[in-house]
This record gives sequence, structure tokens and C-alpha cells, in this order.
Amino acid sequence: MKVCALFGGPHKKGNTAKLLEAFLDGLRGNGHLVQRIDLVELTIQPCKGCMACKKPTADGCIQKDDMHGVLDSVQEADLLIFASPMYWWNLAGPLKNAIDRFFSLPFNATAEKSVFSGKKLLLVMTSGQPSERDGREGLELIMQRMCSFTGMEWLGTITAGTNNKPISEQSDVLKAARLRGSSLA
Ligand SMILES: Cc1cc2nc3c(=O)[nH]c(=O)nc-3n(C[C@H](O)[C@H](O)[C@H](O)COP(=O)(O)O)c2cc1C
Repeated sequence: MKVCALFGGPHKKGNTAKLLEAFLDGLRGNGHLVQRIDLVELTIQPCKGCMACKKPTADGCIQKDDMHGVLDSVQEADLLIFASPMYWWNLAGPLKNAIDRFFSLPFNATAEKSVFSGKKLLLVMTSGQPSERDGREGLELIMQRMCSFTGMEWLGTITAGTNNKPISEQSDVLKAARLRGSSLA
């Protein structure tokens, strides 16, 4: 499987990155081809909502920035991973910006051919609050709606709370994430 992980947090070696890496390690060990994209290093403008990408003669998004390369990787992937610290019960800004820019691709699984059809989607997230009461239900509902609209299969969330203990001290959580990666077909 080709795997594209979009990492939206500001800390490349922070809690979310470590949890993501444990999962990616498992996937790599299982023979999957993994690409991690650190969005914070790229120039990705917010979607302007100009609808130029939807004109019959359009050739993608008119904004000339790093999102074009990201969209190529997204289109090639069989498994998409969104990875983010929880910011105000939501995704961090760089990841939300990138997802908004998916708009320039054909995405509606019922009205047109969706480039997302058949892909799998999984969320990796850390929060301050412990994961059993991190309030991620709203975000998961959004992910599920996104999946059913675009034709993706929702695989769920890998989470950890970090206020009490940094992820580096939660070896059981990291082990479980690695195992989940290594057992994904
Ligand atoms: C701007 C901001 C907003 C946050 N919002 C939440 C939140 O809504 N719920 C929560 O449990 N933790 C929240 N946190 C805590 C982070 O999600 C948590 O510390 C996370 O593990 C940080 O991950 P990192 O080390 O990858 O940056 C917030 C932190 C920041 C900086």
C-alpha cells in the first residue's frame, strides 16, 4: 500500500510526531511504502474559494505553491493519514489549510468520479486531555462525513493524551500504535 501521512503540527519531534512515527514504523515494517509530509515546512496558502478550479477548462488550483506536490502524493496514496495535535477540538491550521485545498480535485463520489474513491483514511492525534475525554467526537463525525462524501473508508483514530505524561513516557501507547501499523493489511 502507498501511504501518505500529512503532518499538520508545529513540532516535528513533538508528541503527535512521535505517535505518528510509531504507527508509520509499524506500516514500514509491514512492507508499506510510507511518505510523511511535514506541512509546516511548506508554503501552502489557504483556499481562496475562487472556484477557478471548477471551471470546465480548469487545470487544477490557480495558486502556485507547494500544495501541487502534496496533491500528487494524496492522489497516489491508498492510505491517507491526517496527523495533528488537537487544537481547540479541531485540526491544527496547516492541516486544515491543506485539506481545504483538496477542493481542486474531483471529490464527489456520487456526482463525479472522486479521486478519493477506495482510499482509506485514519487520524493520528494527541491532545492535552486524556484520550477517553478529549472531545474528539466532533472531529470524527467530520472525518466520517468526509469519507462518505468522497468515497473513502474511515479507519478511525489513534490518540493519546499528553498533559499528564509526554508520549515518550507512554510506551504502551507507542507499542499499540506500532502494532496497529504492522497489522494493517
Ligand atoms: C493552540 C492550542 C490549542 C489546544 N487545544 C486543545 C484542545 O482543544 N483539547 C486538548 O485536549 N488539548 C489541546 N491542546 C493541547 C495539545 O493538543 C497537546 O498538548 C498536544 O499533545 C501537543 O502535541 P505536540 O507535542 O505534537 O505539539 C492545545 C494546544 C495548543 C497549543
